[in-house]
Amino acid sequence: MTSKRRFFVTTALPYANGPFHIGHIMEYIQADTWVRFQRMQGHEVHFVGADDAHGAPIMIAADKAGKTPQQFVADIAAGRAQYLDGFHIRFDNWHNTDAPENHQLAQDIYRALRKNGLIAMRDIEQFFDPVKGMFLPDRYIKGQCPKCGAADQYGDACEVCGAVYAPTELKHPYSTLSGATPELRKSEHYFFQLSSDRCADYLRDWTQAANAHGQPHLQTEVLNKVREWFTTDENGHGGLADWDISRDAPYFGIEIPDAPGKYFYVWLDAPIGYLASLKNHFDKGQAAQHWHAPSRTAQSFDAFVADPSVEQVHFIGKDIVYFHTLFWPAMLHFSGRKTPSQINVHGFVTFGGEKMSKSRGTGISPLKYLDIGLNPEWLRYYLAAKLTARVEDVDFTPEDFVARVNSDLIGKYVNIASRAAKFISQYFDGKLGYAHNTGDLRDAAQALADDVAAAFEAREYARALREIMAYADRINTAFDAAQPWILAKDEARRAELQDACSQALAGFWLLSVMLSPVLPVLTARVARELFGLERDFVWSDATELPQHAAPYQHLMHRIDPRRLDALFETDPPAAPVVAKPTAKPAAQAMTPAAPTADATQDPFITIDDFAKIDLRIARIAHAEAVQGSTKLLRLTLDVGETTPDGQPRTRNVFSGISSAYKPEDLIGKLTVVVANLAPRKMKFGLSEGMVLAASAADEKAQPGLYILEPHTGAQPGMRVR
Ligand code: 2FM
Ligand code: ZN
Repeated sequence: MTSKRRFFVTTALPYANGPFHIGHIMEYIQADTWVRFQRMQGHEVHFVGADDAHGAPIMIAADKAGKTPQQFVADIAAGRAQYLDGFHIRFDNWHNTDAPENHQLAQDIYRALRKNGLIAMRDIEQFFDPVKGMFLPDRYIKGQCPKCGAADQYGDACEVCGAVYAPTELKHPYSTLSGATPELRKSEHYFFQLSSDRCADYLRDWTQAANAHGQPHLQTEVLNKVREWFTTDENGHGGLADWDISRDAPYFGIEIPDAPGKYFYVWLDAPIGYLASLKNHFDKGQAAQHWHAPSRTAQSFDAFVADPSVEQVHFIGKDIVYFHTLFWPAMLHFSGRKTPSQINVHGFVTFGGEKMSKSRGTGISPLKYLDIGLNPEWLRYYLAAKLTARVEDVDFTPEDFVARVNSDLIGKYVNIASRAAKFISQYFDGKLGYAHNTGDLRDAAQALADDVAAAFEAREYARALREIMAYADRINTAFDAAQPWILAKDEARRAELQDACSQALAGFWLLSVMLSPVLPVLTARVARELFGLERDFVWSDATELPQHAAPYQHLMHRIDPRRLDALFETDPPAAPVVAKPTAKPAAQAMTPAAPTADATQDPFITIDDFAKIDLRIARIAHAEAVQGSTKLLRLTLDVGETTPDGQPRTRNVFSGISSAYKPEDLIGKLTVVVANLAPRKMKFGLSEGMVLAASAADEKAQPGLYILEPHTGAQPGMRVR
């Protein structure tokens, strides 16, 4: 056991101008997994986040919404918990950069930098929007990147090559507020002298150096990028430039001391928000210690952040590397503070290799994921299975997602417990028993757990999960080879049966320990419900052997691939049948069901479930367009029914098939209708059933809608079963 480490871990602070997207959630899952892993090792971790509240975009958005910026930010903050709780992301504290701690810390750091001679004042020419009558914030100016020439780049940084520059360096600039070509006007600005030899020399060393624990501050590919930023060409151009840290009023931000009407640029106080959130967390802890909870560790924030043994670890995306590898360590160091231990950079989430785009229907909303009842641990597992320590994008495809979860989590992992625990309950009253040398089992467990721990530590989650699943394969193979279902038939072979099942469950125990950082809720249930442990797993449990197992309780079910359709929908689907516009019967019928039946799956229905659906042959007696709707046809269906006095009765059904059929082509045709669907009142009248039609799972990529038609001989009213 290594000695106890102390961590201060953060994720990038999201702008408080919108809900989390899947990229945020991936970063939080990456960090949360790492934090959980460190805690399982017995280390002390303080994991904090905050909303990045300041800046012109939030000020402008708040104004548009008719709110004060403070109210606007508070409203966004109120929506955070549902995402974090929903995906089991457990920050110790969530704060915001407009909080008093941040004002204080930002001003303190600035004063220290000024005292250190690293702040300069200069008149700059700044873009002014002559139509709007205001200085233009960087983000409201676009143009061509001065470094790589990419078009439509924002005024502060290039999303293509990552360069950071002043808006005045853009080629062909325009105001995104008015479209006007901005004019240059003079204003006095404050600069952090990053280009000074002192700063540049320090950063050149720092970026290449290792931390006190022997790990490099930066990943190799990040360092390579950073090296480019130091490089000057033969004319002395390029290299680090001084950083403009001030903005003129009106601005939502922190006032610069002794500089009326000047505010810190949002990127100055944003990373200081990491410290502010930690301070707030510690101060709350001290208050709790004092008044309510003597067991909580009260620590001094100042002592903690200055302690050289504390590891300060930031998880960030690849778009904000410049700020975190240059500005941030320089600000900290030259204000007399400790610098970060590791900057861990990840890539973006892509969908089928492309950036997410709502209009193209790629990308998934995390809230929708939760709302439609998908298991958050499926996503945690899937993302972890693709995350490495490199700056690589993580590609999400529905097929891959379903396959990973169903074959790994259910097929390999959960199945072990469901298969083995059954025999232990039935024949051994829950008692495990090992025929072999348990020392060997422990040694093997130790070796595997060490490998997996090294992978988690290095953020090589994909490798960790590959090793874990390879071990699950070995357990399943051994279990199958032992043929417990045959052993169970022979009373004389009870010891063999018990051993086979105990080994499988010991393997399941070890798997559960190692999966705990990724699947905290599922494994907490395994610990308690299956193994009767009254706590969550810790890493040292890896070498323990369970002695009892409770009867198996359902742990997790397979993903039904059909449920993912809803995740990708951008607009309400053009359902072929309008009686129930949120359902997609056609698409569902065409999507293959999950493979293989076992004790853990539930996407299958029983024959009794199916019998509840009254499918009937219907004759389309009449069809017509619906005035005021481009999608619907009104169908009059003969389903072979009569009124109580014996008259033929028809049904009225609205069907969203007008893109595929002309009314006159349908009249007289036979089709299939769901006859016992509850009637639904629609804008155009009552719909009394639903006509079935086939379409591709991805209707956008492969349009086309085909109603079902029976073979000759079928009569209206016949049951389809
Ligand atoms: O890019 C962003 O979303 C910024 N709000 C990240 C800030 S990270 C830290 F510096 F606060
Ligand atoms: Zn560029």
